[in-house]
Amino acid sequence: MFDSDPIIVGLEIGTSKVCAMVGEVGSNGALNIIGVGQARSRGVRKGEIADAAKAVEDVRNAIVDAEQQADVEVRSVYLGVTGGHVRGFTNRGMHPVASADREIAAEDVADAIKNAKVINLPAENTPLHAIRQHFLVDGQPGVIDPVGMLAARLEVDMHVVHGNAHRFQNPIRLIKGLPLDVEDIAFNGLGSALALLSHDQKQMGALVIDIGGGTTEYVVYSGGIIRHTGVLAVGGDHVSNDLAYGLKVPLRRAEDLKIQHGSALTSDADKGQTLPLTGEPGLHTKTINLEHLRRIMALRLEELFEIIAAELSQAGLLNYLCAGVFICGGGARIPGIDQLATRIFDMPATLGRASSVSGLKSALDQPEFATAAGLVKYGASQHRKRDGDGFVNAIRKRVQIFFGRA
Ligand SMILES: Nc1ncnc2c1ncn2[C@@H]1O[C@H](COP(=O)(O)OP(=O)(O)O)[C@@H](O)[C@H]1O
Ligand SMILES: [Mg+2]
Repeated sequence: MFDSDPIIVGLEIGTSKVCAMVGEVGSNGALNIIGVGQARSRGVRKGEIADAAKAVEDVRNAIVDAEQQADVEVRSVYLGVTGGHVRGFTNRGMHPVASADREIAAEDVADAIKNAKVINLPAENTPLHAIRQHFLVDGQPGVIDPVGMLAARLEVDMHVVHGNAHRFQNPIRLIKGLPLDVEDIAFNGLGSALALLSHDQKQMGALVIDIGGGTTEYVVYSGGIIRHTGVLAVGGDHVSNDLAYGLKVPLRRAEDLKIQHGSALTSDADKGQTLPLTGEPGLHTKTINLEHLRRIMALRLEELFEIIAAELSQAGLLNYLCAGVFICGGGARIPGIDQLATRIFDMPATLGRASSVSGLKSALDQPEFATAAGLVKYGASQHRKRDGDGFVNAIRKRVQIFFGRA
């Protein structure tokens, strides 16, 4: 349906914060961020709703905050989703070419794609994104457009991001209860990658890692297409937990220590340094060993990166990341996190900025807001598509963005 509303809102209901970002699509089609709202998130665990009453309040607060800053009324959102149930894998769909002359028609392509989207998905799961990689025509790999070629067998590799259908519904129902419309849902990692990566970086190959409170999302682009996606139900909050156990301090203290004195690296300069810990009722005055604190952090973060590196190595993707690693999410604020990633992935790693989106610089510079900024970009691309083509179905719209037409 034609929609003349040029306001696009990206919403991330994160484990640590809720972020609503408002973008405006100008008459020339350019997207500009005009406002951002945020609220502390109290109803989310590991990226998923755990206390709907609190979450709905937090989302409302973030939306109101965004409305005030952007001076618009928010009616609908592009909602980011994540969680340990979200998986990405590459599926091969097969379709026998049935026509007498064995010439591949557009319908054969559509059937092969349809098969690849659903094959091997657990019954309770639904595809969230389906990204076409390339076709195989009678086993010949790397075919970009097979229509008109002759073959008995057409195959297609699709990267499918999928997850539990009910668990995707929980945040959608929450938003609808506000009441707000959900235009579409998208994987949070995709949002972050869209915000951070330029067209060239997507072509050259890049890994985006978004370290949030309770989850870490990662996405690999190469040749302009998404090649790999994943989520680990581990984030900055686990670092704080490790500190609480390891240093024997309350969690709130551990969080403060992480933010004030944390680092992803240990150095000789930390040796023998202590931090006095005072003022906690019921807690003996004690000192914290700075080297110990940073070693605990480094171990957890190293493990996080190593899990991702092992997965990408197994998928044969590490050699395709010519643009390097880009880190965002609140975890990007940890001093030395880029150096640690450089060491573990053995390639240049930098802190990512939502530089592919324009507008409010103060918001776009915050690593926590990358997902929401990318969701606005995702929404804007769909909006443009809808304006130009009234009957494009939701899945096809999703596919477009992965081919660099965002
Ligand atoms: N200066 C900092 N140093 C270390 N960790 C930080 C810092 N600022 C934020 N964080 C951590 O970032 C995480 C929140 O990141 P965010 O991207 O907002 O999460 P989410 O998207 O899950 O809501 C928390 O674990 C928080 O402790
Ligand atoms: Mg996040």
